[in-house]
Amino acid sequence: MARFDFYREISHEMSCLEEELLASVKTKETFLSEPLERTIRAGGKRIRPALVYLSARFGDYDYERIKPLAVAVELVHTATLIHDDIVDDSPLRRGTSTVQAAIGKDAAVYAGDYVLARAFKMLVDHGDFDILKSVSSVLYRVCEGEVRQKREAFDLTISFLDYARRIRKKTALLFAISCELGARGAKADPHTVSSLKKYGMMLGMAFQVMDDILDLTEDENRSGKPKGNDIKEGVITLPLLYALNNKSTERELRELLSDKNRIDESTINTIIKIVKESGGIEYARHIAGRYVKKSKEQLSVLEDIPARSSLMLLADYVVERTG
Ligand code: IPE
Ligand code: IPE
Ligand code: MG
Ligand code: MG
Repeated sequence: MARFDFYREISHEMSCLEEELLASVKTKETFLSEPLERTIRAGGKRIRPALVYLSARFGDYDYERIKPLAVAVELVHTATLIHDDIVDDSPLRRGTSTVQAAIGKDAAVYAGDYVLARAFKMLVDHGDFDILKSVSSVLYRVCEGEVRQKREAFDLTISFLDYARRIRKKTALLFAISCELGARGAKADPHTVSSLKKYGMMLGMAFQVMDDILDLTEDENRSGKPKGNDIKEGVITLPLLYALNNKSTERELRELLSDKNRIDESTINTIIKIVKESGGIEYARHIAGRYVKKSKEQLSVLEDIPARSSLMLLADYVVERTG
């Protein structure tokens, strides 16, 4: 399943991952297994497990030891998506119905919990207490990031720093720990672990900035997610934040966003148009590019092995992607 060039180095791992993921959520409870299987089969980009495998190449690579870590991070990610789609009231993910749209919000809460529990079971079986501790603390910070996003919804006074803190927690930390887990799981030396972790953090920041751009620019047939969902939910993302701080677009935007009950499809399209005119998209692209540059800098100190080139390519992909 090596869909991307940067997966070539780990093509065997990535093709086995699909079966591993399906097996990891297997349950006789068909009400759960059907939407979960569909979500997995719909195929995500699998960036986080790829980071685990590629980072592990910098140490003493033992596929059987690394595999549960890669599967577990993708499961943690899947669980956060299931819960995120409940909160965002989103009907579409990976071009198919979200779990919440398929089985209702109540059951979807349990489905997310179920996936999370399976991830932690896997980490417990793996048996490294420190890894378990790190993943747990990342997870509660992801929750803090998501709650913060809810608290800040339609808050037009948030700063660029508020935005950066939020995306660090909700997205970048999971990227960072994916790299850390791979490197630590393969017993790479502490400097290597630290550089890879920083690479993951910067990559995750770039990734979320790009995701926030794509929410405004890509139709659902390309992204597999509803366009403008962030605006609908009042999530103030970087392009919008830029336009809110731009003298020529500020007033109109504040007016449009002042009443959350008035945000219909036409308002969303108007807001997107204004953000585009303000230069907010270019600005956010520029920031994403800066994060990617910082992530690549971390790689320069690492051993020059094929996995390093793959991580370089992955960094380029993050700012070039359209879905
Ligand atoms: C979506 O992540 C959630 C964000 C952190 C933006 P991905 O874009 O990696 O989702 P999939 O797994 O490829 O569907
Ligand atoms: C989600 O961010 C981050 C998570 C922790 C799940 P988004 O809300 O931007 O993700 P999408 O756009 O729904 O994939
Ligand atoms: Mg969302
Ligand atoms: Mg998004």
